[in-house]
Amino acid sequence: MEDGEARSEIRRMNPNESTVNRRRLTLRGLPLTFRWLFSFFLLTIGLGYLFALVYLFLLEVEPHRKMGLGLVEATIIKYYGNRGNTRLEGALNGVMAEMIGPAERAEVIRWIRDGATAEGYEKVRPLFEKNCVSCHSKDSGYAVAPLTTYEDVVRLAELDLGQSIRALSRVTHIHLFGMSFIFLLTGMIFALSEVNQYLRLAIIALPFIAIWMDIGSWWFTKYQPVFAYTVIIGGALMGAALAAQSGNYVAVHSIAVEYFREGRHDEAAALFEDSLNANLSTEHPDQSMVLLTRKVLPQAYIKAGQEAKAEVSLEEYLKLVPDDAPSLYNLAFIKHRKGACHDAVELYQLAAVFSKDAALSARTHYNMGECYRSLGMSDEALRSYREALRHAPGDSLILDRIGALEGPRPGP
Ligand code: HEC
Repeated sequence: MEDGEARSEIRRMNPNESTVNRRRLTLRGLPLTFRWLFSFFLLTIGLGYLFALVYLFLLEVEPHRKMGLGLVEATIIKYYGNRGNTRLEGALNGVMAEMIGPAERAEVIRWIRDGATAEGYEKVRPLFEKNCVSCHSKDSGYAVAPLTTYEDVVRLAELDLGQSIRALSRVTHIHLFGMSFIFLLTGMIFALSEVNQYLRLAIIALPFIAIWMDIGSWWFTKYQPVFAYTVIIGGALMGAALAAQSGNYVAVHSIAVEYFREGRHDEAAALFEDSLNANLSTEHPDQSMVLLTRKVLPQAYIKAGQEAKAEVSLEEYLKLVPDDAPSLYNLAFIKHRKGACHDAVELYQLAAVFSKDAALSARTHYNMGECYRSLGMSDEALRSYREALRHAPGDSLILDRIGALEGPRPGP
């Protein structure tokens, strides 16, 4: 067989092509303008996420850390409240402690603990006026709660129940609307990637579930402090999901598939290798993606004419999926062309067992016949050709081979 002819043979007979050529809208299939747009969008979202973390740290974690509280305690205080205490008493013993002398502070606290009554207020009112209203009044210029009337003061002397329902409803609806748009867009972009379908479904759903979990637990924490843990886990999960949606070995794989389609087989093979290595070097390699890349890599090698590498990569793939008939056939064919007919026959036999496709079966038995013929095993060759004919009735090439082995037919 001529070299060029043999290669076109592999190409024509490569039954795996459908894996690569299936027509689904993918990232690489989009016009440059869209990919440009998506890149800027994802970059900006990434920055946004970073600053959200900084903001969260500065607003929620750092101030509490200064007061000697951990992240979980801080979350509990924000949503569940500090129920052993009122905000007023908390401030008097905490951030506002320096604004008032110890004797006066004790008097105010006694009044709070006696029920913060209107009658009692008349006695403590001068203390507020002396120490507090210079800042805590409408016209002080400070954006703080006024402490000028009994109503103002008593509001802060109620039990601290954390965020009010009104405040929670406000942040909840803003977050649900805002975040779902972000997830819709990142999810749409990720939907166009070429990761395994189930993984794609899972990763698309993950941030939505994470935000339900996160926001849901704000509400639960209001009534049950243990949910502070789910607030934190939900938030972390959301970050992880967003990060997973831009996993880069997936992108590299997709680009390689595009090169493969464009006929740039050498580049495709190199990129499939890159994608595989990037994936395998992660802490938890994405196995379905490993499988997909390992499956198409040999096809790229075959088309690029890199037969030695094709052989190695087919062997690698068959270790993972030992019953993949097209790969068995391809490997057999490479051995066959190298003249390793015994190995080739063994592999053709396996391919024949697992093949579910008539054309592949016909081809497999025909080539097996060719091997036997070159080994001088005519009986086996004849049997193989007959088997091939069963899968491809009337094929003239097969009939010729059978005719030649059976000898000239007796004339009428
Ligand atoms: C120098 C101005 C000033 C004076 C005087 C002052 N405060 Fe404040 N107060 C503030 C500022 C500013 C904040 C907001 C601080 C913050 O949120 O960290 C605040 C916050 C508070 C809070 C809310 C804390 C919370 O739980 O968010 C309470 C309650 C309070 N002050 C009570 C008092 C009382 C009682 C006095 C008098 C003994 C007083 N303050 C005196 C400036 C002042």
